[in-house]
Amino acid sequence: MYVCLGNICRSPLAEAVMRNKVRKMGWDSQVYIESSGTSAYHIGEDADQRTLHVAKSHDVPMNHKAQQLQSKHFLEFDYLIFMDDSNAENANKISPPKASCTVFKMRDFDTQSKGSDVIDPWFGDDAGFETCYQTVNRCNDAFLQFLNNKHIVTTS
Ligand code: 4NP
Repeated sequence: MYVCLGNICRSPLAEAVMRNKVRKMGWDSQVYIESSGTSAYHIGEDADQRTLHVAKSHDVPMNHKAQQLQSKHFLEFDYLIFMDDSNAENANKISPPKASCTVFKMRDFDTQSKGSDVIDPWFGDDAGFETCYQTVNRCNDAFLQFLNNKHIVTTS
């Protein structure tokens, strides 16, 4: 579960990019992916037009409706991946006592400025969305490698 604030820019892009990678690897049946926002601002809305545009420009399919992060998600998902520190702080307020998921920031997996925030492109221009794509694409490659090492058993 990828998590940002509004679930219309960063986390839906991270979700779509990862789903595309997983599909190309043939791991669709082994990896279940969603995204959500800590706010209720955009529940039920499509992804931002600029998000859809940058995804399309990189041939990443997107079919998204925004949803809000819920307490039950801490029990249902193995991993919660936050885009920035404020997302993690907001999510912490609804974390159930028996939360079983592992929590990361997306850029814990980055090779550049490891551990920093995925900058919110909402207030900026298209260049910010391209930067966001490059960031989540790079981080998801490393996250996929992490998942492969930890969980995925290939038979031959
Ligand atoms: P996101 O970007 O958290 O990456 O989806 C934002 C989208 C909307 C708002 C803020 C950030 N907003 O304030 O409505």
